[in-house]
Amino acid sequence: MNKHENLCDIIIFGGHGDLAFRKLMPALYHLCHDGYFHQDTRIITVTRADMELEEHLCLVETKLKEFLIIDKYDAEKFNIFKKKLHLVRVDLSDEEKYSSLADVLSQYPERDRVNYLSTSPSFFGSICKALSRYELILPSSRVVLEKPIGRDLKSSRAINIEVLQYFQESQIYRIDHYLGKDTVQNILALRFSNRIFMPLWDANNIDHIQITVAESVGVEGRWGYYDEYGAMRDMIQNHLMQLLCLIAMEPPCSLDADSVRDEKVKVLRSLRPMTPADIQQKTVRAQYTKGSSNGESVPGYREGEGVKNSTTETFAAIRVDIDNWRWNGVPFYIRSGKRMQKRNSEIVIQFKGVPHSIFANKGACISKNKLVISLQPRESIELKLMNKIPGLSEVMRLQQVELELNSSENISRKPEAYERLLLDVIHSNPTLFMRLDEVEAAWRWADSILEAWQEDIVPMKHYSAGNDGPSAAIELIASDGRSWNDE
Ligand code: BG6
Repeated sequence: MNKHENLCDIIIFGGHGDLAFRKLMPALYHLCHDGYFHQDTRIITVTRADMELEEHLCLVETKLKEFLIIDKYDAEKFNIFKKKLHLVRVDLSDEEKYSSLADVLSQYPERDRVNYLSTSPSFFGSICKALSRYELILPSSRVVLEKPIGRDLKSSRAINIEVLQYFQESQIYRIDHYLGKDTVQNILALRFSNRIFMPLWDANNIDHIQITVAESVGVEGRWGYYDEYGAMRDMIQNHLMQLLCLIAMEPPCSLDADSVRDEKVKVLRSLRPMTPADIQQKTVRAQYTKGSSNGESVPGYREGEGVKNSTTETFAAIRVDIDNWRWNGVPFYIRSGKRMQKRNSEIVIQFKGVPHSIFANKGACISKNKLVISLQPRESIELKLMNKIPGLSEVMRLQQVELELNSSENISRKPEAYERLLLDVIHSNPTLFMRLDEVEAAWRWADSILEAWQEDIVPMKHYSAGNDGPSAAIELIASDGRSWNDE
């Protein structure tokens, strides 16, 4: 790799926020250590905090020690990394006061700039406007927008329109970190580099698909943000929809950004619109009440700071139907929740049974084939098949066995999603980022559900923290004669 191609200034707005410390700095630290940065790369934290550089470096070091996975902090590596760190004080709410940032950036006026907006979306427009006013946007500049962009189609559109006044669509990188996860990219490899799945991947052979993203954690001190968004806006509209697109899309003609995104957007446009009656029948929203997590008792959602009468859902489950030839009659059951029993994210492709069993009358039961793509906590792909139990028994007896594909076992450290995505932005590769029409199509679908929920068409259910979610989610799938993979 030509490292000069990587030379850029990375400017993190909201650089002292939770995401910056929890995800961005650890990812940048690893990229630096693994040699992906040009030696002159600068990482410029923009913050309103009144602090000197030395204090900032101490803070970054403390946070790295806290958030680097499996004890990867190394003082020597940090000494190299910290040379790249810079600090600029800007009050983001004052568009006229970006001169300190302009001074720092103008030291290298021609250098590529990656502007990472790790702030509330309400700042996106004003930051871009200020960058333009101070002539800090070059044709090669990129801007990274964190999700969720807006709270609905209307607000998302307003934000995008504002950003598009200053950056071209090709310069905008709308991030969804699920697309940076290795196993998620592996879905493309699995589907499009193995012929065996090609003829099986449709309504003739697949009974249904399940997508679960369950978290054992709560809202982790992000009450202010979370209470405005909830599970639907925080997880379903973006992460789960992206997973659904990768599973459901047609083969793109190449891996280039637009070919992949064209196919994803077709899926989003094929999502069956839901009437209020459908929404009543096919969606579940719920909030957790007090319970226990990892052996410790935890308060309910409404007992959190400032959310006493909140009607925000911390869990959502939805039956999604896709109206196209490939998926006609194949439901996608998706669900996501906080404070669930365990962290578990997986995609289950449930195949249909064999057309006729020659074993049934002889006491052998045949489980249907299943492909389980696990994203968290373990990353693996398992194909469940039937097999004969070895032995001489008179009646042939069968058992279900797993063919397991775990490509990460021999890798000492698997890169985090943000490493992949930051590197892609540095290389100007937008394949794993969302295009404007994708974001809008996902909001259009989500809006109809959110509006019905807002009108209380679907009652809010409850589940105790540390549980598997509300019983209504079990009934949702059971009413179709199916069950979640964990039951
Ligand atoms: C973020 C959400 O996008 O994804 C969080 O805002 C959530 O609420 C997180 O906890 C989950 O990410 P991961 O990679 O831990 O599954």
